[in-house]
Amino acid sequence: MTDRYAVIGNPIEQSKSPFIHTAFAQVTGQDIEYTKVLGPLDCFAQAVDAFRAAGGKGMNVTAPFKLDAFAYATDLALGAQMAGAVNAMKFEGDRVYAENFDGVGLVRDVVHNLGCPLLGRRVLVLGAGGATRGALLPMLAEQPAELVIVNRTVAKAEELAQLARQHQIGSVPVQGIGYDALTGQAFDVVFNATSSSLSAELPPLPDSVFEPGALAYDLTYGKGLTPFLRLAQQAGVTRLHDGVGMLAEQAAEAFAWWRGVRPDTQDVIRQLTVPLV
Ligand code: ATR
Repeated sequence: MTDRYAVIGNPIEQSKSPFIHTAFAQVTGQDIEYTKVLGPLDCFAQAVDAFRAAGGKGMNVTAPFKLDAFAYATDLALGAQMAGAVNAMKFEGDRVYAENFDGVGLVRDVVHNLGCPLLGRRVLVLGAGGATRGALLPMLAEQPAELVIVNRTVAKAEELAQLARQHQIGSVPVQGIGYDALTGQAFDVVFNATSSSLSAELPPLPDSVFEPGALAYDLTYGKGLTPFLRLAQQAGVTRLHDGVGMLAEQAAEAFAWWRGVRPDTQDVIRQLTVPLV
C-alpha cells in the first residue's frame, strides 16, 4: 500500500516539499504519496489528527505551525528541542516523533555541497530568531574557531549564545553581540538567518565583515540576489548562496528518517535553483 505524507502550513500553495519528496521517491523507488495540507489557523491539531486517522505516516510542518507541532509531539528529538520548533513529524501508533532538520540541512549544504568546511573558521550568524536557534548546534558540531551571533535586539543574541554554550559538546567560543560591535571584525562565513530578505531589507551590516575569500549565505530561498547578498557582492565576495541547498538537504534528512534511505539532492537543487540576479 502507498504510504502517505504531507506538508502542512498556511498558506501552503508555495511549498516545494511535494515536488522534492516526489522526486526523492522516484529516484529511491519508494512507494509514497506526498501532498499539501492547508491547515486552518486555529485547528492545527484537528487537521493533523484527521491526516493520521486517514493513515498518514508523517508530515513536514511549515509556517505558522512549527510551534503548534512542538506542542503536539509526544517525543521531541534534540534537534527539535534546541530549535524550539518542529519541521518534521513521524506517526507510529499513538506516538508523534518530532524533529527539526533545518540546521543539519544548512550545515550539510555548506560543508558537503558547497565544499566549505566550518572547521577552524570564524562564523557570523545574523539574527537571533528561530532559524538561528535551530542552526547553532549543527554549526558548533563542525568546530568553527568562533561563532558570533549578531542581532538588532542584543539581549536575544546574548540569550542564544548562552544556550549554545550550555548545550554544545565541544568548547567553541560563542558570543552574542549588537551590530555596532562588528566594527573592525571580519569573518570567513557569514549567514543571514534574519527574516530581512523576506521584506527586501538589509541588516545594518558593515561591508568590512567579509574576509577575503569569504562565503555569504542567505537562508531564504528563491528571492534572487537579496540585499544581504548584494552587499556581500559589492564587498567583493564571490561565493554567494541562497537557501536552496538547505531546503533540499532538510527534506533529504526527513525522507531518510521516514524511509530509511537517503536520496541524492543534486538533481532537486539544480531544478529548484533560482538565479542570484
Ligand atoms: P525566524 O523564525 O524566521 O528566525 P523570527 O523568530 O521572527 O523569525 O526572527 C527574525 C529575526 O530576524 C530576528 O533576529 C530579527 O531581529 P530582532 O530580534 O532584533 O527583531 C531579525 N530581523 C528581521 N528583520 C530585520 C532587519 N531588517 N534587519 C536586521 N534584523 C532583522
